[in-house]
Amino acid sequence: SVLIIDFGSQVTQLIGRRVREAGVYCEIVPFQSAEEAFHRMKPKAVIFSGGPASVLDQGSPRAPQVVFDSGLPILAICYGQQTLATQLGGKVEGGHAREFGRADVEILKASPLFEGVWEVGRKYPVWMSHGDRVTVAPDGFEIVGVSENAPFAICVNEEKRYYTTMFHPEVVHTPDGAKLLSNFVHKIAGIAGDWSMSAYRARAVEAIREQVGDRRVICALSGGVDSSVAALLIHEAVGAQLTCILVDHGLMRRHEAADVVAMFREHYNLHLIHVDASDRFIGELTGVSDPETKRKIIGRLFIEVFEDEAKKLGGADFLAQGTLYPDVIESVSFTGGPSVTIKSHHNVGGLPERMNMKLVEPLRELFKDEVRALGRELGLPDSFIGRHPFPGPGLAIRCPGGITREKLEILREADAIYLDEIRKAGLYDKIWQAFAVLLPVQTVGVMGDGRTYEFVCALRAVTSVDGMTADFYHYDMNFLGRAATRIINEVRGINRVVYDVTSKPPGTIEWE
Ligand code: XMP
Repeated sequence: SVLIIDFGSQVTQLIGRRVREAGVYCEIVPFQSAEEAFHRMKPKAVIFSGGPASVLDQGSPRAPQVVFDSGLPILAICYGQQTLATQLGGKVEGGHAREFGRADVEILKASPLFEGVWEVGRKYPVWMSHGDRVTVAPDGFEIVGVSENAPFAICVNEEKRYYTTMFHPEVVHTPDGAKLLSNFVHKIAGIAGDWSMSAYRARAVEAIREQVGDRRVICALSGGVDSSVAALLIHEAVGAQLTCILVDHGLMRRHEAADVVAMFREHYNLHLIHVDASDRFIGELTGVSDPETKRKIIGRLFIEVFEDEAKKLGGADFLAQGTLYPDVIESVSFTGGPSVTIKSHHNVGGLPERMNMKLVEPLRELFKDEVRALGRELGLPDSFIGRHPFPGPGLAIRCPGGITREKLEILREADAIYLDEIRKAGLYDKIWQAFAVLLPVQTVGVMGDGRTYEFVCALRAVTSVDGMTADFYHYDMNFLGRAATRIINEVRGINRVVYDVTSKPPGTIEWE
């Protein structure tokens, strides 16, 4: 395995993904607990991430000495390069022009780091982001690559197998970066690339059997990819000891609940309880228009309904959750300040303590794309795995100003037509998330010979990688015209359609 020491870079997770893509297991650990992790994991190689600090500042983070004493190969990126240089007796200075963004590295000498990828005497694009720079390399190091503003762009000690780069090989803006990371783990560290989803599946099934024994597990199944894959894996491990509960809040898309129930019951023969709690949810939400209040009501009711059902079953020893690795990685914090709650996300937190259950979280080691690969491995259809994300509070947060059954039905129809047009145009997989929003605004229109006074529907479509930032999707206007015409013609209650051209930030993807 590979230990990735996190110094707080925004892109540390990408190092982990690239290493996993190379078929090698790795863990990302904050620098404060790197020493403990080193002893626990017994890695075969270590990577230092970038980070926002300056090695010139007092108390700035360092790598634990044990890493240097171990004789293992090290790849040190950006801030990692600077701390490595400092710790081994080199020099770092501040106050140089900040190099930020694209740069070209010229290769001066061959190295196993870019063997088969980069040639001596040529230049290659990389992505830099730093303020300080190394000015004197530690003993035994030599420069094998330079860029205009970074004389130590790639600086290595081949004998010790220490490789340092001032640029970030893990980001897509360094087009050959993944190959460099793959060379580091395979050629330099000699680690076999045998981390695959079929191996993971077998290992996870064993681990679940061991954890659960002959006891009972319950799982909240929403139809999302994570909870579905977690449920299937546990089902494979312990079969009928698993019961899934689908809390149907009546806020799902058209046919969604029924489709999920059919697939899991018929295709996988999973024990699934479908609870129609729509009256309770819609009843309590009626007359509520504040977004946070809506979210809180839904979160609370979800737990109450789930708990009631679990009690009817006589309880369980374990609660299964589709927690992913990015939720588990401890983030490195320098400021220590509280972060602002933009929206209270909906999950089943708090339940395990209340019901005295332990957690089964078979996806804790996986990134999202690995969960999809595992889902395919478990036989889930591509159409299911490739579905756009759907928020826990469902259509309630796409009806600003309060919901009614009637409004939900109008929204559901418009949304179904919009997605149908997206699929017909072959755009579904190009868009990260698309949906309709029903605005609490009525406007005047004319249809046939008559005046209409109906709701406005807003269409949203975004591109994104992780939902943290997003751009609006640039449709061809003809497409928008077609979708709008169909919605206005086919949905009673809507006489006007608008398109949302807000990116995130400053907007969010959902409207509430
Ligand atoms: P925002 O609106 O915050 O959404 O830009 C980012 C992504 O998260 C989804 N989202 C949620 N997902 N529970 C979820 O599981 C929630 O409460 C929730 N709220 C927003 C949203 O659909 C988008 O993909």
